[in-house]
Amino acid sequence: MAEWVRLCGAGEAPVPGSAIEAEVRDVAVCLANVEGRLSALDNWCPHRRGPLGQGWVEGSAVVCPWHSWAFDAQTGVALPPEKAKVDVFPVKVEGDDVLIELG
Ligand code: FES
Repeated sequence: MAEWVRLCGAGEAPVPGSAIEAEVRDVAVCLANVEGRLSALDNWCPHRRGPLGQGWVEGSAVVCPWHSWAFDAQTGVALPPEKAKVDVFPVKVEGDDVLIELG
């Protein structure tokens, strides 16, 4: 059953135009901020498991720091020409906490 769990404090969330790595219940997450909107993606790039949370934000995408594949921050779909997708998690801020929904 899906459940909202605390990923990090709201004060630890990335500032607009950046991403961080965070972990909850052994799930590594890339938490990104695109123009003030948070999104949570599977941290591991499907190319060679680069850490997306150590990458950067470019437009509406998170860019992998290893070989620069880019993934739409909201959908997790890779930008062309790559054909791949990472999981995304629903995310919300509640009080001082950033929560994601784990299935
Ligand atoms: S590991 Fe992410 S682009 Fe290669």
